[in-house]
Amino acid sequence: MAACGGPPPAAQTELSGRLLYATNGCGACHGQDGQGDGPIARTLTPPPRDFRDGAAFKNGVEPAAIARTIAEGLTRDGGQMQSYGHLTESERLRLADYVISLRAQPAQGAQHDRPPKTD
Ligand code: HEC
Repeated sequence: MAACGGPPPAAQTELSGRLLYATNGCGACHGQDGQGDGPIARTLTPPPRDFRDGAAFKNGVEPAAIARTIAEGLTRDGGQMQSYGHLTESERLRLADYVISLRAQPAQGAQHDRPPKTD
């Protein structure tokens, strides 16, 4: 959880992306903070991406690449990342920026909440 005092001031793109992330239900799978731990995450195979793990992104981590993933979805390996083709390109890019901001955020002890890797 965030430290006391609420979230730090965010750039406009981040606020908009955050709102889009909330209103489009991304967190149901990816988790509120993009850690791949949303309420239905455990029902999904493959699991939803933990956005902190840039190396795990199958389609690349550039804003345009993420926006394209959001547009087209990611189902080729049986995943349930659906297409958000109804959003505008601008909205998808704002979401992509937000995803990247989640990836870039300092760990703030969150690493300790991760289950140990078994592989
Ligand atoms: C129904 C669950 C679900 C929802 C809702 C969902 N995703 Fe996903 N998402 C997934 C799964 C599952 C994967 C991983 C699929 C795979 O590994 O093949 C994924 C992968 C991703 C990836 C990584 C793509 C890559 O290159 O590996 C991004 C970025 C992403 N989702 C963004 C979003 C955003 C933004 C939203 C909201 C607009 C969203 N997702 C909503 C299930 C979901």
